[in-house]
Amino acid sequence: MADVPFEVIREPAAMRAYAEDKRRDGMTIVVVPTMGFLHAGHLSLLREGRRRGDLLIMTLFVNPTQFGPNEDLDRYPRDEAGDLAKARECGVDIVFAPDASSMYGPLSQTSVSVSELSQPLCGAARPVHFAGVATVVTKLFHVTLPHVAVFGEKDFQQLTIIRRLVEDLDFGIEVVGMPIVRERDGLALSSRNAYLSQEQRAQAPALRRGLLAANAAFDAGERTALTLLAAAREPIEACTLGAIDYLELRDAETLEPIDTVDRPAVIATAVFFGKTRLIDNIVLGTLSVG
Ligand code: PAJ
Repeated sequence: MADVPFEVIREPAAMRAYAEDKRRDGMTIVVVPTMGFLHAGHLSLLREGRRRGDLLIMTLFVNPTQFGPNEDLDRYPRDEAGDLAKARECGVDIVFAPDASSMYGPLSQTSVSVSELSQPLCGAARPVHFAGVATVVTKLFHVTLPHVAVFGEKDFQQLTIIRRLVEDLDFGIEVVGMPIVRERDGLALSSRNAYLSQEQRAQAPALRRGLLAANAAFDAGERTALTLLAAAREPIEACTLGAIDYLELRDAETLEPIDTVDRPAVIATAVFFGKTRLIDNIVLGTLSVG
């Protein structure tokens, strides 16, 4: 397949025309949606995306509709020049980086929501968040026309919602989920880690320690949700600077709460360090390396 020159496209109509053209040429299109400020987690998605198709599109858009009124939209970290350099290094062909005004016109009023899956966990504290995500991902799919889309398991609920969205609305896109990339001390990489003070950063790996403690109990035969959650809670509650938003054990597919683990289950948590909300999760019994 002929190489395409690296390009930044800013207009949805231009992106769509480009993607239509490449589809007509028989190219397999892969999209990796991001809000930028790329770290090694994003880069692992890009590398996987590169392997899976002929044309790799990264979207770079801090989507205003997925931020609540008191959230961090205005201070969300940005570094477009750095992101473009990293994208290029990972073999991205096209970066789609629209302005908010070209994605949402003044008359825009349509949104997509994945009802049940959007309510628990992160949805409880962020009521508009997942409708914003489902809507922007729908729009990004419509303009980039991918065959394959790559997302991270770090945002487990988001990934579950996108899988449901793709199936429910017949997108015909293969959704690929990628493992969480972590710092050496276990903290899941996140653009929001940049907000942490030194003291908060030092305590933040407790999320991972808690999840690993629950997983160890699971591996030792424990199946009662309350006991597994208590094992996870202990190291997290020991953080003097952290406040648990939620810590829950749920069915890994439906996200329904379960009392006894008799099917694939995820423990998901969100912890506030000051105003910064960190999330992490573990699918019990699937850990291959510590
Ligand atoms: P963003 O937070 O930039 O994340 C982009 C993608 O990177 C998501 O699929 C996310 O799960 C993945 N990711 C983030 N941290 C990761 C880590 N440590 N390891 C592996 N993957 C990681 O998620 C969003 O943007 C937005 O909601 C978006 C889907 C782009 C819609 O606006």
